[in-house]
Amino acid sequence: MLYQPPLPSPYPNLSETELLARIHAARKSLGEEVVILTHHYQRPEVVPLGDAIGDSLKLAQFAASQTRAKYIVFCGVHFMAESADILKTGNQVVILPDLGAGCDMADMADVDMVSKAWDDIVPVVGEENIIPVTYVNCTAALKAFVGLKGGIVCTSTNAQKIITWAFQQRKRIIFFPDQHLGRNTCYKMGIPLPEMRIWDPALVQGGLSKEDIVSTRVFLWKGHCPVHLQFTSQQVDALRVKYPNIQIIVHPECDISVVEKSDFSGSTEYIVKMVSDSPAGTHWGVATEANLVARLAKENPDKTVESVNRFKCLCSTMNRIDLKHLSWTLDNIVAGTPQNIISVSEPTRSFAKQALLRMLQMS
Ligand code: 13P
Ligand code: SF4
Repeated sequence: MLYQPPLPSPYPNLSETELLARIHAARKSLGEEVVILTHHYQRPEVVPLGDAIGDSLKLAQFAASQTRAKYIVFCGVHFMAESADILKTGNQVVILPDLGAGCDMADMADVDMVSKAWDDIVPVVGEENIIPVTYVNCTAALKAFVGLKGGIVCTSTNAQKIITWAFQQRKRIIFFPDQHLGRNTCYKMGIPLPEMRIWDPALVQGGLSKEDIVSTRVFLWKGHCPVHLQFTSQQVDALRVKYPNIQIIVHPECDISVVEKSDFSGSTEYIVKMVSDSPAGTHWGVATEANLVARLAKENPDKTVESVNRFKCLCSTMNRIDLKHLSWTLDNIVAGTPQNIISVSEPTRSFAKQALLRMLQMS
């Protein structure tokens, strides 16, 4: 995670009303020079300020297609801003309002550890028999590694399609950094659990014997989302006992025991659509980040929407982006001194772009 210095005066002491007034004034003066992208997990006061609101795939597609604005202000986390910078079509400047907005899961797959794993596996199975696939929640350096090896990026929306493609290329895959999205998707595709093995980068040879490596079809990097692992199958059971008609919808970053007990699983955009399109009176138990669950409850007053975990599960890094940082960011653009520019350098950019474009061409 990068360090974000404290904001200068007056931002820390401004009220929400003052901040919103400043944000609207800055946007007016910038006009079409700026677009704001907001991920579904952003704070409730930040989400409506987005010109586009969506999941990782939708926002990446937006960044890849928009040509109008000079500045793309990304209200999300660091890997999303990096992807926007890699995919932008011109000389746009991508800005992350708080540099501390990282992703714990992305930090779990360091590219040097990934290279070491590759160097351990490839001599055993042969490079022609394995392809790397990475969830978009990873560093640009890891996307570049994957691009260089002929692999591909996926999101929670298109994971099944992308993994199907990967298996058409080679016999085995290694999936980074989220073991849960990898396992849940491959299991849905009919791959038996014993043919998937965890690669633990802290252990010699990932914790696997040569025989294990040879008999593995899916290597799952030992990474996870700390937010989504707070949901358990016991919580799902308890809700079903209490409310027999409840429908459970979960994000595929949850453990397989939760996903297998759910009625539906999919990306944040899928969850939003499913709940919004459901009939009045429907009752939903949702296993994903707290800001999104609270927003769904508010935007669907004719339905009951609650978190599967009653203590709620906040993504603290997503939550770092607030009106204070957004106001400071926009004022700096107006002043001609943009801060927090996210710029991926070569050759990382080109190789990462190959892996991202392979995905976008299939989406
Ligand atoms: P989505 O692509 O479903 O929005 O997921 C992003 C994410 O970080 C979920 O934790
Ligand atoms: Fe990363 Fe999990 Fe936060 Fe999503 S919810 S940004 S995977 S830490």
